[in-house]
Amino acid sequence: MASRLSFANITALAPMVRVGTLPMRLLALDYGADVVYCEELIDIKMAQCRRVENEVLQTVDFVAPDDRVMFRTCEKEKQRVVFQMGTADPDRALAVARLVEKDVAAIDVNMGCPKEYSTKGGMGAALLSDPDKIEAILRKLVSGVSVPVTCKIRILPSLEDTLTLARRIEKTGVAAVAVHGRFKDERPRHPVHCDYIGAVARAVAVPVIANGGSLDLVKTHGDIQAFRVAAGASSVMLARAAMWNPSVFRSAGPLPLHDVMIQYLKYALRYDNHAFNSKYCLCQMLRDKVESALGKRVQAAQNNQELSEAFDLVGVFEETQAALEARRDALQSPERLRDHVIAVDGDVTTMALKFQRREYPPQLTPKMFLLEWSRRQKLEQPTYQTVQRAQDRAFQSTVTVENRKYRSSLWEKSKKFAEQASAVVCLRARGIPESHVGQENGGRPHKRKTEDGRDVGQEKRTKQTGDGERETGGS
Ligand code: FNR
Repeated sequence: MASRLSFANITALAPMVRVGTLPMRLLALDYGADVVYCEELIDIKMAQCRRVENEVLQTVDFVAPDDRVMFRTCEKEKQRVVFQMGTADPDRALAVARLVEKDVAAIDVNMGCPKEYSTKGGMGAALLSDPDKIEAILRKLVSGVSVPVTCKIRILPSLEDTLTLARRIEKTGVAAVAVHGRFKDERPRHPVHCDYIGAVARAVAVPVIANGGSLDLVKTHGDIQAFRVAAGASSVMLARAAMWNPSVFRSAGPLPLHDVMIQYLKYALRYDNHAFNSKYCLCQMLRDKVESALGKRVQAAQNNQELSEAFDLVGVFEETQAALEARRDALQSPERLRDHVIAVDGDVTTMALKFQRREYPPQLTPKMFLLEWSRRQKLEQPTYQTVQRAQDRAFQSTVTVENRKYRSSLWEKSKKFAEQASAVVCLRARGIPESHVGQENGGRPHKRKTEDGRDVGQEKRTKQTGDGERETGGS
């Protein structure tokens, strides 16, 4: 069993919305961060997510009902990643913590965000004025999950109140407290109050993680130790200094920014990070150079390929794509899939596969095989229901056979392919030998029938059963 993550004497990548996604976290770890926090994720959104093992990327994804990946993590960071949530509800916080606890090293609650979207829901810095709520959330989490629980606070206007709050937090059983040494109303440009952080560190026995030193105190790795000493804390957490150049964690000194951006992009490609998120992070690193020739290309990029072109990484982009494609193919080989039902999602059997035209003889498709098989079994004709999602207009079909539903978890570019993919899932999940269906015709595949059972050669397509049921813009 893995040991519990310790927060004593560590240097951490701070939680940062949009910045703290997987590529940045892995890069920070490579450069020497001991612990990496994910961006704050709101409990209501996370509670709707399902956990998906992404076999192609070798990641664990927490996927929202609209198929957006809210949180992606991988084995490499499992012992080091802290999941930070925004919450104002102990029960919901626990439900989310339980959803992710097997895949992360610790759970953190954000109690410092002063932004309205957070405070108006009673989350973030709003919690600072509701210590009963803080206590209820933390106690529930500490007793309800097996990983360490921490929280990140800002300081209160009175030092005495800050210390009282810190002591109360400590009593809940948290493993550490991160203290951003600014008052709720102070902006990031204001100097950090190291004296408050130090007083908290002296008042509690759990490790205190000093935060807030990026602007005026921490520029290089050497400054991290100076900040730790100035704040009198066990540990240090960096946000902006790491966002501007994550190699700030390197004990041998920071690397040239261009090299760092290239390493960032390689991780972003490898883990299929959303191009707009990668672009945002690269722009943060470029900072005042965002209007340079490179900055303009990054800003103009609309996808990962264009980002790669801006950094002369087209070769890496193509290699990464080919490697992922090969993995996808290997995962979808009929031999592997025949006995390999990936998941049962509600009452639907799902597999992660795409329809590969080249695996079928010309003019024959999985839908035709399935129809032919259903007829021989004297079953009702399979029915297909297709949905299209708004964000990329991709399609997903569910086929119903004998009152059982089958679908591919991978979305297709066309409705036609989505239906074929669902038919393949049904054939493989039920172990229906696709080749046999056709081989009763003298060892050759049937070429007479279309998937509707009509003769090939008639007009190309008629309305498929279930077409009328299609929902668009669903989920
Ligand atoms: C933040 N911060 C922040 N804090 C938090 O608890 N959860 C979050 O999701 C975010 N998001 C976030 C995004 C960005 C872009 C920045 C710059 C900051 C605050 C951050 O963790 C830290 O407390 C402050 O930035 C102060 O630390 P530095 O920057 O002086 O090291």
